[in-house]
This record gives sequence, structure tokens and C-alpha cells, in this order.
Amino acid sequence: MKDLNDLFVHLLKDVYYAEKQILKALPKMAKAAQTPELKKAFETHREETEGQVERLQQVFEMMNKPARGVKCDAIEGLVDEAKEVMDEAEAPEVMDAGLLASAQAVEHYEMARYGTLIAWAGQLKMPEAAKLFEATLTEEKNADKLLSALASRSVNRKAA
Ligand SMILES: [Fe+2]
Repeated sequence: MKDLNDLFVHLLKDVYYAEKQILKALPKMAKAAQTPELKKAFETHREETEGQVERLQQVFEMMNKPARGVKCDAIEGLVDEAKEVMDEAEAPEVMDAGLLASAQAVEHYEMARYGTLIAWAGQLKMPEAAKLFEATLTEEKNADKLLSALASRSVNRKAA
């Protein structure tokens, strides 16, 4: 990698890989979640994630590059942690609090990545790409807010 453009393409591939992993993990998390609102939040975000994958594909197209991911160790680690929760939670309340925490870690990871993509797209004079990333960032922030609300309203209280 020799310039910002190379870094940008690498991050785009990294995030593309991450979104696809999330797309696979969310149905499992929805299935494991015990609180109906949490289940619903995971299902809704899975649908949103499909659109986010499409937005990334649009950016690859703008750059005349094939949409291809590159293994992202960060998301692998976060998804592994969610799996650990699913394997080890011994009570439904513990399952939900653990899954919710894992999902928020994923959202924050994505918020960081999209924030960088927006900044770099600005530097590289790619306003259309920046707009697509902004749309996704808004969805990630809203998903995170919803999870925070669920945590304080019910999930964490039950687990305590
Ligand atoms: Fe996402």
C-alpha cells in the first residue's frame, strides 16, 4: 500500500468482509436471543445489513474494482465472542445481556470503520461514496441506540 487510495481500498475490503460475517452471525444471534425485542432488533439489523453490503458493492463499482473482501481479524474476534456467549450462557437473561453487549461491540467497530471511510472518501474526492457510507453510519448509530435503550429498559435489569 503506497497511498491513501490503497488504504481506502483495503479498508473497503475489510469492511465488506466484516458486513458479510455480521450477515451470517445475526440470524444465529436472533435465534439465541430470548427477549422478543432483542430478537426483533437483530432481525431488523440483519435486513439493514443486506442494504449495507449493497452500498459497499456500489462503491467497489464506482472504483471499477471487483467486490471482494479481505479477512478482518477484528470482526472474527467479535463474532467469536458472541459465539462464546451463546455456548456458555446458563440462563436466558444472561444470554441476552451477553448477546446485547457483543452486538454493541460490533456496532461500535462498524461506526469507527465507517467514520474513517467517510473521512478518506472526502480526502479522495468521492462524495458519492461518502454519502453511501453516511447512510450506513446512521443505521449503525440507530442500531446502537436501540440496543442501549433495550439494555437499560429490560435486558440488563433482568440479568442482574
Ligand atoms: Fe453494518
